[in-house]
Amino acid sequence: MKFARLVRLCAVVLPLSLGTFALVGCGPSEEPATPKDAKANAPDPRIARLLGEMTLEEKAAQLFMAAREGTDPFHNENLGRKDEVGAVLNFTGTKDIAAIRTAVAESRLKIPPIFGLDIIHGYKTLYPVPLAEAATFDPSIAERSAELAAREARANGQHLTFAPFADLSRDPRWGRIVEGSGEDPLLNVLFTRARVEGFHRGGLATTVKHFAGYGAVEAGRDYGPVDMSLSELRSRYLSGYQAAVDAGTDTVMTSFVALNGHPATANRFLMTDVLRHEWSFKGIVMSDLNAVKELIEQGVAADEEEAAYQAFTAGVDMDMESGIYMRQLPDLVRKGRISVADLDRSVTRVLELKVKLGLFDEPMPDALKAAAGTATSEMLDFARVSAERSLVLLKNDNNILPIRPQVKSIAVIGAMADSASDILGPQFAEAHGQDGETIIDGIRTRAAKNNISVAYVPGCNASCDETKGFGAAVYTAAAADFTILVLGEPMFLTSEGGSRSSLELPGHQAALLKEIADTGKPFAVVLLAGRPLALSNIVNEAPALLYAWYPGARGGSAVANVLFGDAEPTGRLPVTLPRTTGQVPLTYNQYAVGRPADDGNRFTNRYVDTPSGPLFPFGFGLGYGKVDYGKAMIARTDLTKDDRVEVHLHLANSGKFAQLETAQLYIRQKVASRTRPIRELKDFRQVHLNPGEGADVQLSVPVSELGFYQEDGSYTVEPGVYQIFAGADSTAPLAGEVKIKDGLKRDALVAANNTTIKN
Ligand code: BGC
Repeated sequence: MKFARLVRLCAVVLPLSLGTFALVGCGPSEEPATPKDAKANAPDPRIARLLGEMTLEEKAAQLFMAAREGTDPFHNENLGRKDEVGAVLNFTGTKDIAAIRTAVAESRLKIPPIFGLDIIHGYKTLYPVPLAEAATFDPSIAERSAELAAREARANGQHLTFAPFADLSRDPRWGRIVEGSGEDPLLNVLFTRARVEGFHRGGLATTVKHFAGYGAVEAGRDYGPVDMSLSELRSRYLSGYQAAVDAGTDTVMTSFVALNGHPATANRFLMTDVLRHEWSFKGIVMSDLNAVKELIEQGVAADEEEAAYQAFTAGVDMDMESGIYMRQLPDLVRKGRISVADLDRSVTRVLELKVKLGLFDEPMPDALKAAAGTATSEMLDFARVSAERSLVLLKNDNNILPIRPQVKSIAVIGAMADSASDILGPQFAEAHGQDGETIIDGIRTRAAKNNISVAYVPGCNASCDETKGFGAAVYTAAAADFTILVLGEPMFLTSEGGSRSSLELPGHQAALLKEIADTGKPFAVVLLAGRPLALSNIVNEAPALLYAWYPGARGGSAVANVLFGDAEPTGRLPVTLPRTTGQVPLTYNQYAVGRPADDGNRFTNRYVDTPSGPLFPFGFGLGYGKVDYGKAMIARTDLTKDDRVEVHLHLANSGKFAQLETAQLYIRQKVASRTRPIRELKDFRQVHLNPGEGADVQLSVPVSELGFYQEDGSYTVEPGVYQIFAGADSTAPLAGEVKIKDGLKRDALVAANNTTIKN
C-alpha cells in the first residue's frame, strides 16, 4: 500500500458566505462584462434622469418582459411601441437581437432591453443537465459549466439567464426534477450557489427560480398546489433560494404554485417579508411566464387590475409575458392604489441591472465575434469531462465493465443510442440536434482505436412502442462479443409539463432487455433519463447499469470513455431510485416514524406489495476500483454550539483500477422537540485513490448547522445526542454519537404565519 494522504477536492463549508459582485459594462469589442468592478455599485446618474423623464406608461413598460412571438411588440404591431419593454425573452441569434436593439435605439428614451433566456445547462454547447451535474457531488463542475455557458451566451448577445433552478424536489414524477440538484438540501445549496457564481464570472446576470416550493407540487403534477408546514418549507426548501440570494443573484422568479393556499406570485410573505426583509434581497423580483395573469385562474384575483395590484403589492417588480403590468399599473397609480414611489423603486431596480450589465454602452452583437466565442474547444472538452464525471455506475456484476481488451466486436442496441436530442436533454437554449454527439458516434470513434467492429440496430423507436425490430437486435447481439444496450426515457418525457405517472421504462424496453439477456452474451445497459427511474423489472437481468442522465454535447464520448475504462465512473446518486412508482416520494431523509419499515411486520411503515426501501440509495455509485472504509473515528464527542463535529476515516483502494471516492457524513438528532429526519447529509469529500493507495479523510460540520426551523420561523440547534454516520452512501454505518451540551436559537425576523396577503 502506498503512503496515506489527505485530500480535499471538494470542500463543503456552511453557513453560506455572502458573495458580493457587480456586473460591469463591456466596452466596444471587449469580452463580456465581469462581475468585479465595485464602482458599478454607485448610483448611475442616468437612472435619476430617466425616472424624471419617463411617463407612467414608460415606467410600466420597464416592468414588462415580453416573450418572443407571444406578447412582444417587435413581432406584433398591435402590442404597443417598440420601446415599451423592459426586457424580452427567447430572442436568440445576433441578427434578431441586433434588429431589436436598432428599433429601441430609435425610440424616445432609447432604454436598452434586457435579453433573457433559459440558459440552464449551456447555450450552444450543452453540458450535462443540472441533475446530472449534481451527481458529480462536485459543485465546481457546475460553477465551471455555468461560467462557460455564460461566456458563450454573452458573446451571442444574451444578458440574463433564468437559472439557477433551486427547486428542491422529492417527487420524481415531476418532470422538472431534471433541472435541479435533486432531493437533498445541502447539494441544492452548494450547486445553486456554484451556478450563480459561475454565471456571474462568465458575464451573465442570474435568476434564481422558482420562489418558492415549486418542486413540491402535489403528486408531482406540474403547476399543482403545494401545502406544507412552515418548518418544512424553511428547513428544506428555502435554503437553495437563499444561497442564490447570498451569492448575489440579480433576479428572483416567482413560482406558479399556490403555497399553503396563497399563489407565490401574490405572496407578500415570500416576496417581501422573507426575500426583502429577512434576506435583504436588492434585485428584481419577476413573475414566471404569464403567472400574473394566472392569479385570475388561481382564483385570488377577479380581473387584470386585481391581478396586477396583488402581484405588485406583494413585491413582484416585473411581469413576464402577460402584459398586465403595462396595461394596469399606470391606472393603478392614477387611482392612488399604488404610489409613484413604489413604482419608481421597481423601475430603478430594472434600470440598475441594465447599468450593471453595461447595456447603455453595449456594442451591437457581432456575428463573427459571436461565432468565435461559440462551441470553442475549451467548451466542448469541458462538456466531455463534466459528462464523464456525472455518470453513475449502479451495477457491475463480475466486473463486466470496463469492456475487456479481448472484445473484438460490439453490438449497440437502442434507438436513443443514435439520438442527439436525447443526449442533449430538454433545455437546449440555442443548441440543435446536430450539436450533440450520439452514443453510437462516441462508441464507434473509441472502438476504432482498437479495431473493434461496431454494429448498430435500434430494436425499436425511442418510446419502444413496437417490438418488430427485436429480432434483428437479438441477432446482432448474439453475433457480437459484447452488447451495449441504450435504454431510458426520451427527453420529451421530462422537464416542464413532463410529469409522469409511471417511472418505469417506457414501452417494451424491459422486454427488449430480457431478449438480449437471453442470448447469454455479456452486455451492459446505459440509461438516459432526466429523473430517477423505477428499475425493478430490469435490475436482475442487467449485469451492468450505467446511469447517464442526459449528458450533453459530448455525452457520446463520455459514455464510451467510461465503458472502455479510459475514464472512471465517478457519479453518485443525488436522488433515491425507487423500486416502483407507487413508492414515491421516497427519499433518504424522511422523517422518523413510530414503526420503521420492517418487511417481516405488516404493521410498519411499508407497502404490502413491494419490499421496503429504495432500489439504489441516495449517494450511491460504484467505481471500477474497490474502496474499503476503515472504522470512522469521531474526534470529540462532547461539543458546544461553537464546535464542529469531526470524523476521521481511512479509505483504501484494494482494486485494480483507480477510483474517485465520495465519502459522506450523515447525522440524526436522536431526541428532539419535533420529529427529525432519520438522516441528513452534512458533509462529503472526494478523494482519488490509485490501486493500492490509501488516504485519510476528514468530514466535518459546524454544530451550528445541525438545527432546523420551527413553525414560527426561529432556527434552533437543540442540545442533546446526535448520531453520526460516515461511509460511501446514505446507508453509511453508525460511527457513534456526539453530545451537544448547549444549543442555539435565532428568532425569526418576520412572523412565520404571515402567508396571507397584506393589502
Ligand atoms: C418556466 C420558467 C422559464 C420561463 C421562461 C416558464 O414556463 O416555468 O422556468 O424560465 O417559462 O422560459
